[in-house]
Amino acid sequence: MRIAIVGAGSIGLAVAWRAAQAGAEVVVHDPEPGSGASRVAAGMIAPVTEAHYGEEALGPFMAESADAWPDFARELEAASDLEIGFRDLPTLLVGVEDGDRAEIDRQLELYRYSARNVEALTARAARKVEPLLSHRVRGGVLAPEDRAVDPRAVHAALLVAAERAGVATVAERVEDLATLDADQVVIAAGCGSARFAGAAGSRTGTCDEDALAGSARWTLPVRPVRGAVLRLRAVGDQPTPRTTVRGYVKGHSVYIVTRQSGEVVVGATSDERGFDRLTGTAGAVHDLLRWSIELVPEIVEYHLEEVSVGFRPGTPDNLPLIGRLDERTVAATGHYRNGIALIPATARSVAALLAGEGAGPPKAFDPLRFSENGDRSVGRIEGMAQRPGTPFAGAPESIVPAGSDSPDPRSVSGPSDPGDKRPNGNPEEGDS
Ligand code: GLY
Repeated sequence: MRIAIVGAGSIGLAVAWRAAQAGAEVVVHDPEPGSGASRVAAGMIAPVTEAHYGEEALGPFMAESADAWPDFARELEAASDLEIGFRDLPTLLVGVEDGDRAEIDRQLELYRYSARNVEALTARAARKVEPLLSHRVRGGVLAPEDRAVDPRAVHAALLVAAERAGVATVAERVEDLATLDADQVVIAAGCGSARFAGAAGSRTGTCDEDALAGSARWTLPVRPVRGAVLRLRAVGDQPTPRTTVRGYVKGHSVYIVTRQSGEVVVGATSDERGFDRLTGTAGAVHDLLRWSIELVPEIVEYHLEEVSVGFRPGTPDNLPLIGRLDERTVAATGHYRNGIALIPATARSVAALLAGEGAGPPKAFDPLRFSENGDRSVGRIEGMAQRPGTPFAGAPESIVPAGSDSPDPRSVSGPSDPGDKRPNGNPEEGDS
């Protein structure tokens, strides 16, 4: 099988690697691999502390992926001969004021549903776990299985591992999926995925609005959620946190992720203004430093090395879009805050979907759920449900025609050409 993948971010490359390992001929298309969300992400693998009310459907997939990460990391390092900075450090979530403490208690209720290991801590116990915590901290929660990895190192390793497995990379931006010479196409272009749409009844997606005029269609409602992140460095014998520290500081959320190398990542702001404003503002730097220093005063001594801004690929329900769009096209995008955490499970499930073997992506991530007022018949291949393990090879050719021509009012489309506006975030590149 010949597979074309749009987007050489970490998701696209991991899918490519797994598909090539399964025997497919894979080509990845991206004008600038690694310049998107993977470049900015902090790399938390946090099925507990990244859980949010309203996103419960993500829980089992996050858990699967987090559990797969240790073996995935070992396999990737062996396949690439590169280290990826996977660290088995626990995560500590703390608060500094009564309101912050109350927020943590509220979160703790949700975390307990995850059936993963969580422990409520007094301030004293929290400081015992993390001696660099400020004395202002009012207690928190320990999540021993929430870990972290270095996303830039992961991306570099995936490039090597994929290439060694036979994956070819083409440095080009794809405008029309129909031009790709492939049996199957995977859209893993992060925020740039929104430019593709497909007419129900056609075999391929396109960016060509004229070609779609008047037809019912599938869309990929991925929107950019901007985040600024700081990279600092501890030098000499400056101590660094021995946990990933997350916290609420007077209602503001901040995280501090420490790497073996002494790099300390502080993130992240979150706002939605399309692809506007590509550089970090003084205000963002000020806020992130102020909040992180309130939690870990030692940060004031570190060297500030980098301010980066990226775009999380968000969807209307904050769940990813993973699954089949039409008989030739598969989505693996919209991972919002959890692209790095979800690499192993996304790669496994999309490779399974393409091969027609094993469990495919969860139904909750069905990428057609926002198309045509949620009419799931649009673009669906008759007899081929979006359920795990449905073999592609046996699927009939016909596609159920659309029931309605009206556009989906819930769809949120990105700008027609986000690439023109994203020097600091490659729209071809996947999610993180
Ligand atoms: N997952 C961390 C963030 O989105 O900032």
